[in-house]
This record gives sequence, structure tokens and C-alpha cells, in this order.
Amino acid sequence: MNAVPPRIIAPSILAADYSQFGPEAAAAAAAGGDWLHLDVMDGHFVDNISFGPGVVKALRPHTQLFFDVHLMISRPDHYWRRFADAGANGITVHVEADHDVAATLRAIREADLKVGLAMNPSTDWETVRPHIHLIDLLLVMTVVPGFGGQAFMRETLPTIQTAAATRAEESLHYHIEVDGGIDAETAVDATAAGANVLVAGTTIFKAPDRAAAITALRQA
Ligand code: DX5
Ligand code: ZN
Repeated sequence: MNAVPPRIIAPSILAADYSQFGPEAAAAAAAGGDWLHLDVMDGHFVDNISFGPGVVKALRPHTQLFFDVHLMISRPDHYWRRFADAGANGITVHVEADHDVAATLRAIREADLKVGLAMNPSTDWETVRPHIHLIDLLLVMTVVPGFGGQAFMRETLPTIQTAAATRAEESLHYHIEVDGGIDAETAVDATAAGANVLVAGTTIFKAPDRAAAITALRQA
């Protein structure tokens, strides 16, 4: 039986106060976050626009946290290196985007970054299966990407279970990350299914006590 990777709490800056991004990133670290999750949206792959590599570069000096960059963009093959140069530590690309998935994953790893592959709730496991030996992280979206504050989609639980079972069968070691609608309640189901990296925007940044919110996720 393979050891399950440790639980990691990744506050999503998408839910922070945009006018205070630097202090908000530092606050996420001070509240006990392990990674900082940066949701990049291009207004094409998803129906929203967030921020680009310039924001990643501006945030880099504000915290030592691992920058977990989630590219919800159509051409991750074209842009990923700008985020690496801006200070990303891990870059996650979508299997549904318009690129040669394996080539992009290999290129990111060759640049000595952690590499992740993301899948939307409507995407089948068989679509990501051929690539799982190339990744350090699988991101199972638990909402339709584009906006924070949505409700957790329970229909994603079987995919999380399959990802965990396949990892054990094939002696692989990728993290399983979930993103969207994660709170102390939904975290129980997501972690029971096999997720170990919990992305949370609203639950953490909108909480009256952010440290308590992170502790609740860690203990869920
Ligand atoms: C998807 C985004 C959101 C965000 C977290 O578009 O990736 O899932 O990170 O959102 P909440 O506020 O649901 O934690
Ligand atoms: Zn995300």
C-alpha cells in the first residue's frame, strides 16, 4: 500500500482582496496555509479573466509559500514559462486546453517545476489516464472553473476515488488536489475519496478567523 501524501491546505488568492494582494498572500501564510493557489483565467478557456504573470511576480517577495499556479487558459503551452520566470513553483495545466498535453507536461518538468494536470467535472478519467505517469499532481475540479464561491459538485467523488486507486495500483505518487466549494464539510468527503491537497478561496479569505478556517480544513 503506498503512503498517502500529507494533507496540504492551499488558500486560493482568487477570493482575496484584490486591492491588497501582497498583504493577503502574506496573511494566507501567517494563517497557516501550506501553498498559495493562484487561479489564472484568460477569459477564453473559462468565462472570466483574473490575472497574469505580472501578479505572480509582484506576489513572489511577499511570501515563501509554494506558488501553486493553476492555468485555466487555452494555450498553457504558450504561456507557462512566463509564470515559471515570475516565480511559480508548480504549474497545473488543463487536459481540455488546446495543446499537446504530454509535451507541455514534459517541458514544465524539464524546467524543474512541479507539474500538474487539471480536469473539469465533465471530463472522463480516461482522458487524463494516459498522462498520469508524467505528473506530480492531479487537480480534480470540484466546480466548473471560472468563479469562486460555487457549490461543491459531489459527482466528482468517483473520479477522485479512481485517481487514488490507480495511483496505488501503479505505484505512482501524484498529489490529488481538489478546487472549488471546499469547506470543513465538503473536505471530509473529498479527503475520504482520496484528495490530499485542498484549495479553498471563499472558506479561507472570507472567514472572520482565517487561521481557524485553515485548521478546520486540516482536521476535516
Ligand atoms: C475555479 C477556481 C475556484 C477557486 C476556489 O474557478 O479555481 O475554485 O479556486 O473557489 P472557492 O471560493 O469555491 O474556494
Ligand atoms: Zn484553481
